[in-house]
Amino acid sequence: MDQQIEIIHDDITKLHVDAIVNAANSSLLGGGGVDGAIHRAAGPQLLEECRVLHGCETGEAKITKGYNLPAKFVIHTVGPIWHGGTHNEDDLLARCYRNSLQVAELQRVATIAFPSISTGVYGFPIERASRIALREMSEYLAHTTQVKKIIAVCFSQHDYQIYLSSAQESDGKR
Ligand code: APR
Repeated sequence: MDQQIEIIHDDITKLHVDAIVNAANSSLLGGGGVDGAIHRAAGPQLLEECRVLHGCETGEAKITKGYNLPAKFVIHTVGPIWHGGTHNEDDLLARCYRNSLQVAELQRVATIAFPSISTGVYGFPIERASRIALREMSEYLAHTTQVKKIIAVCFSQHDYQIYLSSAQESDGKR
């Protein structure tokens, strides 16, 4: 795995990076999980800015300031809800990573942290999601000079172990 991709077990709201990615819903008006944690940490101005974005389609990404977060920006993306894998979920999840990275690049972001999108409330199987996430991160880094570091932030030890084994698996395939 490229040295520019880091896998950590942490709380994304604590990270001093240029941008953190939020696993939002299509309203962009907050929710539970990492969405709730990011809004709580950023403060009410984040919701005010989100209100004028008029939502976000699944697979798309929109950027706001980070306000009280240590991160400068929040990139909000909406992951697919898992329906068994027959509703284009893999491609929609891949687009969340690609579009978030494209938005980051346009904003001249060098360091960006992702939660494990769609693997909580939205029920996407974590093993499958981690392979998609790491593949998209790796492919993106191979074609950009702007984004220097991508961090995959796991909120539980269990998820952390899964990401590590997915990373070893893809290293083994090289
Ligand atoms: N830091 C990092 N990761 C976190 C944090 C945190 N502070 N809190 C939760 N997570 C992790 C979860 O453990 C999970 O692995 O984020 C991942 C995504 O889970 P959810 O937050 O439930 O997001 P998702 O599955 O994409 O569902 C999105 O949930 O919160 C609502 O408004 C949100 O409707 C949307 C839906």
